[in-house]
Amino acid sequence: MTKKYNISVLGGDGTGPEVVVQAMKVLSTTQKEFNVDITFIESDVGGDRYLATGELVTEKDIEQFKQSDAILLGAIGHPDVKPGILEQGILLNLRKKFDQYINLRPVVLYPGVETPIANKTSEDIDFIVVRENTEGLYAGAGGFIHYGTEQEVATQESINTRYAIERCIRYAFEYTKSSGRKKVTLCAKTNVLTYAHDLWERVFYEVAEEYRDIETDYAHVDALCMWMVKNPEWFDVIVTDNMFGDIITDLGAMIQGGMGIAAGGNINPNGVSMFEPIGGSAPKYTGKNMINPLACIAASAMMMETIGEKEYGKALEDAVKKVASEIPSLSAGKMGLGTNEIGDKVIDVFE
Ligand code: IPM
Ligand code: MN
Repeated sequence: MTKKYNISVLGGDGTGPEVVVQAMKVLSTTQKEFNVDITFIESDVGGDRYLATGELVTEKDIEQFKQSDAILLGAIGHPDVKPGILEQGILLNLRKKFDQYINLRPVVLYPGVETPIANKTSEDIDFIVVRENTEGLYAGAGGFIHYGTEQEVATQESINTRYAIERCIRYAFEYTKSSGRKKVTLCAKTNVLTYAHDLWERVFYEVAEEYRDIETDYAHVDALCMWMVKNPEWFDVIVTDNMFGDIITDLGAMIQGGMGIAAGGNINPNGVSMFEPIGGSAPKYTGKNMINPLACIAASAMMMETIGEKEYGKALEDAVKKVASEIPSLSAGKMGLGTNEIGDKVIDVFE
């Protein structure tokens, strides 16, 4: 029986629209083989609409996203809009509105893909970062006093609730268990963030009690950055707060071969999740058929897997893996093929 899905597609800014077009093309062409029938609902949320109308995310947009099984996002960030407005107003807003409390970011070096780390192979670089996605320094708590004066004060507080920490850590352990992984490492900074990360650490070991078969480990974020480069094979699943998760996954993207391949999911296990290439809007490559769409196609693979199409998701991921190993570089403009042709090459794997 064919299963029907509604996918909201939010191309967004810069190269976002071109990469989502490739993901839609791949899905439209290959879905039949997996008895899937996707209706794409395209959304014009993004910097251009904001500049034209002043709208970020409207009630109508929210209603539309609510009707869908998932959201596929291209990129948010426009050179003519002050940094922060679109990121806060669209990306972070949607993560919070839809309570996508997990940001799941695999750091997997596919065979045949080059990593800048000498002597490391795909055997060594294979871990998953589970990033808390709703609070911490991203909660938006803080403000200015005496704005614009010599006495100005700015505060930005990290909000850490036991509730959000616990559901994030529990997700990490459940993910580890169901994916057959073995170890969860808590990445924090307990030696300095003696309140916030003390709570993280206590909750981590409490939850770990329920998963006796899973090994636990702890690393301070600064040391973890060093080890991600020096000994990436030590990591299996890393759980961390929002800000540290943001930072370490850019490092992760580099060791897995670059932004051209890095994908992530903003996940609400009981609601509407949103999948995205993590590379940003890359304005300098916009409209040039130069950007690598593999990260967005990999995001769509995660999306299909998460909404229940495991086999299809896996097949899409395998196709991305194969194409990644066949092109000279994953970087924009150096792939030996255009954006569009890479999309075609992924489809060819299915034929
Ligand atoms: C990411 C991005 C966002 C974040 C920005 C664009 C707000 O860097 O998804 O990692 O910091 O979460
Ligand atoms: Mn980031």
